[in-house]
Amino acid sequence: MHGFAYRNGSLHCEDVDLQSLAESHGTPLYVYSAGTIRDHYRRLDQALEGVDHEVAYAVKANSNLSVLRLLADEGAGFDIVSGGELFRVIEAGGEPARCTFAGVGKTRREIEYALEQGIYSFNVESEAELRYLDQVAGELGVTAPAAVRVNPNVDARTHKYISTGKSENKFGVDFEQIADLYARAAKDLPNVRLRGIQMHIGSQLTSIQPFIEAVEKVAPLAARLRDEHGIEFWSIGGGIGIIYQDCLRSGTIDWWDEKSEQDRPLTLDEYGRELVPRLRDLGLRILLEPGRCIAGNAGVLLTTCLYEKKGSAKTFKIVDAGMNDLIRPALYEGYHEIVPLREPGAERLKVDVVGPICESGDFFCQDHELPDFQPGEAVALMSSGAYGFVMASNYNTRPMPAEVLVDGDKASVIRKRQTLEDLVAAER
Ligand code: LLP
Repeated sequence: MHGFAYRNGSLHCEDVDLQSLAESHGTPLYVYSAGTIRDHYRRLDQALEGVDHEVAYAVKANSNLSVLRLLADEGAGFDIVSGGELFRVIEAGGEPARCTFAGVGKTRREIEYALEQGIYSFNVESEAELRYLDQVAGELGVTAPAAVRVNPNVDARTHKYISTGKSENKFGVDFEQIADLYARAAKDLPNVRLRGIQMHIGSQLTSIQPFIEAVEKVAPLAARLRDEHGIEFWSIGGGIGIIYQDCLRSGTIDWWDEKSEQDRPLTLDEYGRELVPRLRDLGLRILLEPGRCIAGNAGVLLTTCLYEKKGSAKTFKIVDAGMNDLIRPALYEGYHEIVPLREPGAERLKVDVVGPICESGDFFCQDHELPDFQPGEAVALMSSGAYGFVMASNYNTRPMPAEVLVDGDKASVIRKRQTLEDLVAAER
């Protein structure tokens, strides 16, 4: 469910008409629904009710300060992957003591900063990193809280660029090596306190099966580490997939009612229903690191059609957003439903929607049947709330788009559009 729907013929985010936002703030423009973010956070939190748990939002998905503040107010913890993300969490009023720090390449400066701020745990991805963490903590005269990321060698059945839980991926430590590593660390690394275990098998998982497989495989290991080393938590990572196809209609109850049990995409309820019984008797605190399922369907990218070009092979709709604003189609062949802001009729035309960037990969769809829209009209690229703005760049010296957060009938600019002066300021 999400907060986007046609009302009186025009697409709204909650109670705000998106056309009016496009007109007053210009395009490209990211718009997020605060109600949807809150709703998804609460649903996931409730789905895990049967077990001691913490939802640590994966900041990388959407790290705007206002989004982080909203989640901090809901009571979320945070999963971070850089010193920069920790800085953002602190700026937004989040607690470092509820942050876990993931990533294969933490630098000395980042480790020191996170130790000074007192984060909950470093989620360590190699023995070398664990040894380095011990060294830096020793030099600072502190103990570093840590968990090792286990690579369970489970196929997440997702795009190869966002699959992380197979042995050939760079992430984590092989399942078979974990017990020995904990034993060695307990003996040799006095400045590290191993307080948990972590895993994350991939992103945009649309079936519960890989999650079940990974949890069932790692549960005995987690129990053993609890008994032998007194670990307190198990972070089972993020990865819950969202709806990209038919996103707009999935915001309605009817859409869900029409789906049979088997056709329904993975829901947060199902995730909790299947996993809680497999986790609850371990006596461990369960951490979750969701990013996409909190923010993904809560955001859209608005873009205006500039030109139409009819070639001999194709019709191109050229819009004012490019791959620099939303890179998912170019990088992962990601699909984002494209809908006009003015409610269209039934007619569909086969088109490519492309941006202004000088690259053939700069497209939002190819040969898709879309409702027609004309130059001057704006459309929404749905499901763009996660891995949208955060992956945007200044490629082709294009200013970063503005971001707006809608809450009920209120719309606030939560990031100003970059100016041309901003673009060159650091080079003067
Ligand atoms: N925890 C760890 C250790 C991760 O690496 C990630 C995502 C998450 C949690 C959050 O996963 P989520 O719940 O959002 O699936 N840019 C790509 C996705 C990259 C995901 C990277 N890691 C995309 O646009 O599809």
